[in-house]
Amino acid sequence: MTDVSYHKPVLLNEAIQYLVTDPNGVYVDGTLGGGGHSARILQELSGDGHLYACDQDEDALAYAGERFQDEERMTIIRGNFGYIDTLLPKRVHGRISGMLLDLGVSSYQIDVPERGFSFQKDGPLDMRMGRLQASTASEIVNTYEYEDLRNLLYEYGEERHSGRIAREVIRSRPLETTAELRDVVASVVPDRFLNKSLARIFQALRIAVNSELRMLKQVLEKGTALLADDGRFVVITYHSLEDRLCKNYFRTGNFEGRPVKDFYGNDIRPLSVVNKKVISPSEKEQAENPRARSAKLRVARKIPASGAAGETGESASGKRSETKKGGSV
Ligand SMILES: C[S@@+](CC[C@H](N)C(=O)[O-])C[C@H]1O[C@@H](n2cnc3c(N)ncnc32)[C@H](O)[C@@H]1O
Repeated sequence: MTDVSYHKPVLLNEAIQYLVTDPNGVYVDGTLGGGGHSARILQELSGDGHLYACDQDEDALAYAGERFQDEERMTIIRGNFGYIDTLLPKRVHGRISGMLLDLGVSSYQIDVPERGFSFQKDGPLDMRMGRLQASTASEIVNTYEYEDLRNLLYEYGEERHSGRIAREVIRSRPLETTAELRDVVASVVPDRFLNKSLARIFQALRIAVNSELRMLKQVLEKGTALLADDGRFVVITYHSLEDRLCKNYFRTGNFEGRPVKDFYGNDIRPLSVVNKKVISPSEKEQAENPRARSAKLRVARKIPASGAAGETGESASGKRSETKKGGSV
């Protein structure tokens, strides 16, 4: 478990440059993983800054617990970021300078066959990020009715062969392993589309098992409430469903992307978008790390209650010019 190849962080410099605006601030890394982003946040913090980092995966917590065992400016928390308000101490509510989410699964989770996330390795149909979760991919694959399974594959995987795959899955039950599921998909999808279909089917099941979109919605709303005025929300997404939720919420404060106006026609929204153009990994990073290829970085800033959008003195780098807040928490 002390393997340094646990996970190679994506968009590392870009994410931290936008996230850390105050070296004395309180920060949250909602997706600790192997701690790549957390380590860089800590580098930017003074002795008075503090980082709360959470993950729902016991393996990630064990790995990061060892990696950061001597770090006093960090608190590692076990839990789902969808309940971030209950994971953080009350005294930091409304005082968070920046919250980072690097969504999805880590390389470690994909690479370990027993976790069942990969169609390239044979393992049980599990796909739970945390072992406390009750339902697994096996339950979905082996118990869902045809329409529910087809809709799940279509909505979360955007898979156009979803009907044929769902029918064949049901006909082949029971399915115990990722290799068995792979064979079923291979029996109905033409070879040239197979890898893309498998990626979509496994993504759809993973999203469902971990309630990923529901948890993302929850953390966007709850996390925004926890931010200090001008605090930053920095999110790295890996597929269009999560990116759309994030983009809409940052722009409008709701997940449909529907502008809400007050009586005078002014926008009512909690956040203001910092990077108008989505940030993608450089060609060099994409070549070095294939998992970075679909990554998108979005940044928003909490509009102070007075509604002073765009008055933070942001420089081109996204750093705030003033520093405030002190004291360890
Ligand atoms: C892409 S990895 C993060 C990698 C990390 N930034 C690094 O540099 O090592 C995503 C991590 O977030 C965790 N995760 C995903 N969804 C979560 C959720 N709803 N609550 C808590 N942790 C979650 C996963 O278990 C995984 O360890």
